Amino acid sequence: FRIAVLISGGGTNLQAIIDAIRAGSIPATITRVISNRPAAGGLDRAAQAGIATDVIDHRAFSSRAQYDAELAERLDALQPDLIVLAGFMRILGDDLVDRFSGRLINIHPSLLPAYRGLRTHERALEAGEHRHGCSVHYVIPELDAGPVIAQAAVAIEPGDTAETLARRVQAMEHRLYPEVVRWIAEGRVALDGDRVRRDGDYH
Ligand code: GRF
Repeated sequence: FRIAVLISGGGTNLQAIIDAIRAGSIPATITRVISNRPAAGGLDRAAQAGIATDVIDHRAFSSRAQYDAELAERLDALQPDLIVLAGFMRILGDDLVDRFSGRLINIHPSLLPAYRGLRTHERALEAGEHRHGCSVHYVIPELDAGPVIAQAAVAIEPGDTAETLARRVQAMEHRLYPEVVRWIAEGRVALDGDRVRRDGDYH
């Protein structure tokens, strides 16, 4: 089971998946880590783990369509069973999303459908929420709107700041994402039309 991971930043979610594969919990191989940012810390994590990396720097492309075309070509060559967005901070165009439909997942730091988009921790605090968390979902063209596979919740405590809350949510991300990747690699979860099909569902 071949996985490509797309990152833009520190790559702590990437690390959690690397660690789970190494521990034997996910029957899969990460065949490539691709970053749109040359300085992404996650590239070092990949290199440490002996995983090949590519940088496709968005600044070298004059349009999203051109960027996506290059990315699609690289991904096609890898023939991934699953493309994991792990802090990849670029919006993917409809063509690319449709091309890899059912093989493209993302982790988002909120309990979707609440707080799509950016600054989720700040917005949850401002709204006086008592619960927050993270969601893993299949990617569809509409941003952060694809079918949710699984979520993990945390309580918002008095005195929480965006930073303390982000830390607790990220700790949950690092448990949730490898778990979901494992389910998919084991064939226990799949996208069926616009719904998530789980092992044991009637079909
Ligand atoms: C995570 O909080 C994820 O939810 C968001 O970006 C962050 C990525 O962190 N989409 P990292 O690069 O995995 O450390």
